Amino acid sequence: MTSNNTIFGTEWHYTPEVGRVPLVSDTSSDMFSRPIDVARHALIYAGAQKNLAPAGVTIVIIRDDMLQRSPSTIPTMLNYAVHAENASLYNTPPVFAIYVMRLVMTWLLKQGGLAAIEKVNIRKANKLYAEIDRSGFYRGHAQQDSRSRMNVTFRLPNEELDKRFAKEATAAGLDGLKGHRSVGGMRASIYNAFPEVGVDALVQFMQEFERKNG
Ligand SMILES: Cc1ncc(COP(=O)(O)O)c(C=O)c1O
Repeated sequence: MTSNNTIFGTEWHYTPEVGRVPLVSDTSSDMFSRPIDVARHALIYAGAQKNLAPAGVTIVIIRDDMLQRSPSTIPTMLNYAVHAENASLYNTPPVFAIYVMRLVMTWLLKQGGLAAIEKVNIRKANKLYAEIDRSGFYRGHAQQDSRSRMNVTFRLPNEELDKRFAKEATAAGLDGLKGHRSVGGMRASIYNAFPEVGVDALVQFMQEFERKNG
């Protein structure tokens, strides 16, 4: 599974029951945004580039029995068993990215840890979803119970307004809102590091834009 889909703006809000099937999760875009039940996963991997550190490093949490299942036909660099045997030092690791990850983890602990950052993330996302649901001018892309707290996707009444919104938002200092090309519309990515005042600014911009164009 992919715990958070950055493109559609959807997120699993529970860990699915999979019986004896090993649960493998790509948590690249919501790792450390909330507590998760690690023990229920056979393998978790997360590219660092959203909530953890600069791109270039990936966190992998893998159950011992899964390591034993790594076939020897896997190219060495892609074989988690090799990395585990070598304490993640089989190749030269990207030390600067790892150092920054340490700083981010220290910052996270200072915020009160994952339970605390989850509260902030829920509050940030809810502000945007409340605005989307308020008038019908904006329409959320994801089904309500699958809404992502990291990527809030929505569209305006037509494509022309989508374009105008993205352009005027950029001019107002709210950059990067254009949605992924396969979905269209807008996407507000509000990862851990994105400040709540930025969400407030976007809500205000959405209200003003609707007043002018609604
Ligand atoms: C859930 C998820 N998986 C994978 C990727 C892609 O990662 P990479 O660009 O390192 O292949 C992304 C986006 O960066 C993502 O959000």
